[in-house]
Amino acid sequence: MNSESAKSRLPLWVGPALFLLTTGVVVLLGLLAFSITERRWETQRPAIAIQPIAEWEPDNAAWGANYPREYERYLLTRDDTTRTMFGGSFPRDYLEDDPRQVLLFAGYPFSKEYRQARGHYHSVTDVTQTKRISAKNMSSCWTCKSTDVPKRMAEMGVAEFYATPFSEFVGKITHPIGCQDCHDPKTMNLRITRPALREAFAAMGKDIDQATHQEMRSLVCAQCHVEYYFKDGSYVTLPWAGGLGVEQIIAYYDALSFTDWTHAISKTSIIKSQHPDYELYSAGIHAYGGVACADCHMPYRTEGGVKFTDHHVQSPLLNIANSCAVCHRWGEEEIRSRVEAIQTKVANAKLAAEDVLVRAHFDIAAAMQAGATDEELAAARKLVRHAQYRWDFVSSHNGVGFHAPQECTRILGDSAREAQEARLLVARLLAAKGISAEPKYPDLSTRDRAVEVKNAFESGQPTNLL
Ligand code: HEC
Ligand code: HEC
Ligand code: HEC
Ligand code: HEC
Repeated sequence: MNSESAKSRLPLWVGPALFLLTTGVVVLLGLLAFSITERRWETQRPAIAIQPIAEWEPDNAAWGANYPREYERYLLTRDDTTRTMFGGSFPRDYLEDDPRQVLLFAGYPFSKEYRQARGHYHSVTDVTQTKRISAKNMSSCWTCKSTDVPKRMAEMGVAEFYATPFSEFVGKITHPIGCQDCHDPKTMNLRITRPALREAFAAMGKDIDQATHQEMRSLVCAQCHVEYYFKDGSYVTLPWAGGLGVEQIIAYYDALSFTDWTHAISKTSIIKSQHPDYELYSAGIHAYGGVACADCHMPYRTEGGVKFTDHHVQSPLLNIANSCAVCHRWGEEEIRSRVEAIQTKVANAKLAAEDVLVRAHFDIAAAMQAGATDEELAAARKLVRHAQYRWDFVSSHNGVGFHAPQECTRILGDSAREAQEARLLVARLLAAKGISAEPKYPDLSTRDRAVEVKNAFESGQPTNLL
């Protein structure tokens, strides 16, 4: 029997009947799929109707009424008890752990208080309580701390906002970092609310509105987790016109002869670096692979069959399964130990650079005590200025080098080399003045000792080093 004869034997109604049956099944399957997505949608949406959110709504709870899952997770950034080997959200005291930093910041408020960042929930409390803020500060310091900021800027103008004394808004700016900083209330799309990042892109000849969705998942963070300075005393500016690398940023500051303070020990004009997290991340392998800040710090989370973005922004080491294991097939302990090994190397390179830098400051002070002039010390001071900025670029960045291990060790190596070169210059200078003995370096083994020495230099009665 061939197929031709088999076909010809089927009754005429079979064709149309099969067609109807198939159509029926397809329609039923379609309805089922629709009902499933519908249900999923319903569970994703809160039972309550979505309330419209005002354009600059600063209150996280108001947004939370519409998006309870994201809000509940966001509220967990209040927890300040978590610890990892180098990070976590407890207010680790850097000066207590590492007294060298008291000396490195001599003459500047960071030598009085310097603690590890806590979660976003605490941003307003922390900025109003730190000893680093004084009557001299402008509202520029509010910029990265509150959802109230974009509203104030819209009302009074950006430059006017920055130039208002900080104290004027104490008690008026109250809402910590939150929904409004990253989201458009109408669409919930990610958006840029801080002008400095937009302006920095423009200065590089780029349009931030052309950024891809994946880039936005890092750029929302880059609104705050970047290096900046106050142009003309208060205008928040990112020094990126020449590029994001540490060399380009140093060249940018040098061209402006920019200085944050004169070092109390060596009288060097120092530039303070502020957490260049986005800049260093950009130099790392994950940025190269298109992995965004949010991929690791805001991974997806599933609750009751619903997948959403975890708004508990924190150390990814506290959530390795969701943050890393989605891409890496290594076990959790293996991942943790790889991260800690990277961080330990960077931390050691950092301490090594600090040891040379601290000595370089004292060497210059010793040369001053031996009568060296500013002119004679100019070259050494310039080296120390650059060495300290390089060290601080890595030191002030969060994550202890994980975001770009090779770049961080490279920068720290350059820092130590420059500080060493400065020490050589000073040693020759001292030798020319007939002094061949090493300066008498003070004991800096505890924070209290370091503070005593720092105070002596700050009050103009420096410890005798010769
Ligand atoms: C590949 C994953 C990954 C990416 C991408 C990433 N980070 Fe991290 N981040 C980490 C890890 C791991 C640490 C170290 C955490 C620790 O030491 O506990 C860290 C630490 C931090 C910390 C300090 C947290 C703490 O508890 O000490 C901050 C702040 C931070 N990252 C911000 C950013 C920003 C901003 C971006 C994007 C510009 C970014 N990270 C991109 C993995 C990542
Ligand atoms: C630091 C920036 C940031 C803050 C603050 C923030 N979000 Fe998000 N949010 C994100 C990112 C990143 C995504 C992922 C967006 C994407 O990839 O499309 C997201 C996604 C969302 C989504 C889409 C659904 C989902 O979970 O993926 C909702 C809804 C949302 N956020 C609500 C909120 C609410 C409510 C708050 C305040 C309690 C808030 N967000 C605060 C960055 C932020
Ligand atoms: C509006 C400014 C702002 C934005 C936007 C922002 N941050 Fe932060 N972030 C801060 C400040 C300020 C702190 C320190 C808060 C404190 O110590 O009181 C901080 C702290 C952190 C910490 C430390 C928390 C901990 O528990 O260790 C991490 C991690 C972090 N941010 C990651 C991110 C990531 C990732 C994004 C983008 C998805 C982001 N931040 C967006 C300003 C911001
Ligand atoms: C979205 C995917 C993705 C996520 C999430 C991710 N990584 Fe990666 N990771 C990569 C890619 C891509 C590379 C580049 C090397 C490669 O292709 O394997 C990489 C490389 C690495 C390396 C090797 C670094 C080097 O210098 O060679 C380490 C270590 C690492 N990741 C750790 C982590 C940790 C820890 C986390 C979580 C905090 C994490 N990754 C999250 C994609 C990811």
